Amino acid sequence: MTSTYRIATIPGDGIGTEVVPAAQQVLDAVGSRHGIRFDWNEFDWSCEYYARTGRMMPENGLEVLAEHDQIFLGAVGYPGVPDHVSLWGLLVPIRRAFRQYVNLRPVTLLPGIDSPLRDVPAGGIDFLVVRENNEGEYSETGGRLYRGTPEELAIQDSVFTRRGVDRVMRYAFDLAQCRSGRLASATKSNGIIHTMPFWDEIFRELAAEHRDVETSEYHIDALAAMFVLDPGRFDVVVASNLFGDILTDLGAAIIGSIGIAPSANLNPEGEHPSMFEPVHGSAPDIAGTGAANPLGQVWTGAMMLDHLGHPQAAADVMAAISSVLADTGARTPDLGGTASTQEVTAELLTALARTE
Ligand code: NAI
Ligand code: MG
Repeated sequence: MTSTYRIATIPGDGIGTEVVPAAQQVLDAVGSRHGIRFDWNEFDWSCEYYARTGRMMPENGLEVLAEHDQIFLGAVGYPGVPDHVSLWGLLVPIRRAFRQYVNLRPVTLLPGIDSPLRDVPAGGIDFLVVRENNEGEYSETGGRLYRGTPEELAIQDSVFTRRGVDRVMRYAFDLAQCRSGRLASATKSNGIIHTMPFWDEIFRELAAEHRDVETSEYHIDALAAMFVLDPGRFDVVVASNLFGDILTDLGAAIIGSIGIAPSANLNPEGEHPSMFEPVHGSAPDIAGTGAANPLGQVWTGAMMLDHLGHPQAAADVMAAISSVLADTGARTPDLGGTASTQEVTAELLTALARTE
């Protein structure tokens, strides 16, 4: 029996348009071995689209996306279009309209990759960051007054709701229960005296409900230092929107390259499509040169397979990535190699063919 999924693809800008087709080839190949068919539906929504139309996506864009099972996105952003336009015109509306309140980002050091951290053994970094993705510090409330005068001021409010904090933390507790049973929370209740104590209270309430999970709380500054000094101590880390954003770029750095790091914007209930996109952006500095690492987008594809309920297919993709890194010299320049996007993709397809 074949499972067919209707996937909206938004390659976006820059290297997004290079790594998305590469990952589609890999997903099609693994799918054909596991009775999975992807019915890809491509949308050219991007900064180029914005330059043409004045919008990042059409007015009915969200309705169009809602007719799909999942969304597979590359990256958006291009010099000349302010970054807040690409973010607030496309990514943020999708994350919020579809209640993708979990941003899940694995931080795993793959075999054959050297971490920039000294003395990290293979397998020495393997944890998941659960970032709150719908509210928190990235809010639209606030404003500016007295522009251009010496009295000018700016206020940006953070929004933390009990429902919003509770649901993302429950997701993190469940995940910790399925793994080693350890969960760390990122806080800053010594400096941010309203929202962060609220975050901590809810964390402790849930800890009392989940006695089998060993919990710890870190101030965000100390936590960032621990990511560098002792990353092996973490298993699942839950963080607010801003803290999670910063921590996961740090996470991407310690696993060797931002070009590898995957991410999933999840609507855990499956009431709406989830969106799968790598951590990296459109990399205008290397776009068009064929040097983009496709592994972040491919790993993101493995997360989509997992979410769709195909863990074995996802594991095959991860095994192919590991075998290409460990057994072949095919690496893009960000990993110190000379291979192109297409050469790495070809090696992945060869590795997948071997798993039959
Ligand atoms: P970036 O992630 O695009 O690039 C940072 C550095 O990493 C660059 O030197 C780039 O060449 C390198 N890099 C990134 N991905 C790579 C890959 N797959 N293979 C090899 N090297 C890779 O971040 P940057 O430069 O801050 O932003 C560029 C544009 O992307 C901006 O317009 C920004 O707003 C946008 N952006 C979009 C995101 C998204 O769509 N979710 C996320 C982050 C940035
Ligand atoms: Mg970021």
